[in-house]
Amino acid sequence: MAKDTLSVTDNRTGKHYEIPIEEGGVIRATALRQIKAADDDFGLMSYDPAFTNTASCRSRITYIDGDKGILRYRGYPIEELAEKSNYLETAYLIVKGELPDRGHYDRWENNIKIHTMVHENIKKFMEGYRYDAHPMGMLVGTVGALSTFYPDAKDIHNLESRRLQTRRLIGKIPTLAAFAYRHTKGLPYVYPDNELSYTGNLLSMLFKMTELRYKPNPVLERALEVLFILHADHEQNCSTNAMRSVGSSQPDPYATAAAAIAALYGPLHGGANEAAIRMLMDIGSVAAIPDMIKKVKNGDRRLMGFGHRVYKNYDPRAKILKEMAAQVFEVTGRNPLIDIAIELERIALQDDYFISHKLYPNVDFYSGIIYQAMGFPMDMFPVLFAIPRTSGWMAQWAEMVRDPEQKIARPRQVYIGEQLRRYSPLQSRPKPTQREDAVSEAI
Ligand code: SDX
Repeated sequence: MAKDTLSVTDNRTGKHYEIPIEEGGVIRATALRQIKAADDDFGLMSYDPAFTNTASCRSRITYIDGDKGILRYRGYPIEELAEKSNYLETAYLIVKGELPDRGHYDRWENNIKIHTMVHENIKKFMEGYRYDAHPMGMLVGTVGALSTFYPDAKDIHNLESRRLQTRRLIGKIPTLAAFAYRHTKGLPYVYPDNELSYTGNLLSMLFKMTELRYKPNPVLERALEVLFILHADHEQNCSTNAMRSVGSSQPDPYATAAAAIAALYGPLHGGANEAAIRMLMDIGSVAAIPDMIKKVKNGDRRLMGFGHRVYKNYDPRAKILKEMAAQVFEVTGRNPLIDIAIELERIALQDDYFISHKLYPNVDFYSGIIYQAMGFPMDMFPVLFAIPRTSGWMAQWAEMVRDPEQKIARPRQVYIGEQLRRYSPLQSRPKPTQREDAVSEAI
């Protein structure tokens, strides 16, 4: 009868160990500590920079099969949610674990809408930013600042407090995002219009000018709903890992979410949609694609919007966005960059380098083209990623807080530095050698 264990022989000592293989096909890294070369040995550690093969938690929220290109929120396929749901309903599913009935949905929508306003002082923070400040930098600052307005949020073990902060942040982040955008444009802030949908209200706060009431284009409103559904969660991505790791020292969720937004800001993560559009604009024409492919294969450039740590097949979200682009263009006019994107994808997917590296378009490859066609400036693209991901971050954070196995995150290291050295007085130190000079320049 096959046993769920790993039989390990330490050839340094000839000792044998049986390590349990737990549910999900994992072994506990702490089980390696018993494997010692000598009694006073620390024992073996696992070494996994960037956690390429390390599970940090058990989660019920999102399931991804990278080889099959499967993405499900609480078991529901992303394709069905994108076609039939809306963002607030999907956020409820991610946060609560089930699709709401009519009564629960109405209460959830109302509970979000009554939290769309922000303290008037936030506007004063915004005034402190330069006119050309990146809105993601402003979002990191203003979401973190919410921490100072809601001291009750520190009570993270209180279920009702966690629920209230979740509603507050899902409600307020579109307002903060829109205020940041309006600041960069030198336009007056537009207050929330709770008669509109979640995405319609965002469009109003972003684009309302002198009209008495903003009327969102229903095609663009729906496109934003789909974009937000697709971006709502994605298991243990870099920014969710930041949310869980920072959250593990138990600050309030606003300070924690600021860390997640900072992680998302990076061009290898949520900043990739902005970087992908800049890349497509840099390529400029279909004729210039072969030269770009050559630079990528030489390692001189990265194909932004391509590749994924988990998806080694086509990102299902990219497939949905590629198909949705045409509907948006019927309203906005065709974004010519789509032709470069489609040709770039066609060429790349036939190229051995991309095939061997299993590099396919990810969610960021097409989202920027749609956002640009909708009239968003490029530096707002990662902000539009952060808004829906807030529901995922809050759900993952709450799951971490509730998980009895979790504690403050504190990885080990492999020390490769100097051994013991004694302090010497300044005047007696010899002139450093060339090698030491080079080292002293290291930051
Ligand atoms: C998101 O994790 C998530 O779930 C994230 C996300 C979410 O919803 O939260 O899905 C959102 O962040 C999507 C990814 C957006 N980022 C980009 O599009 C930036 C470009 N992509 C890459 O930088 C890269 O593909 C990553 C960061 C997405 C994944 O990087 P990995 O898994 O660490 O892979 P790697 O950097 O170690 O690359 C492996 C090999 C390398 O070649 P070798 O050194 O082995 O020869 O693949 C190459 C890389 O050079 N490679 C690429 C490439 N991505 C990887 N080469 C060219 N272009 C690329 N885009």
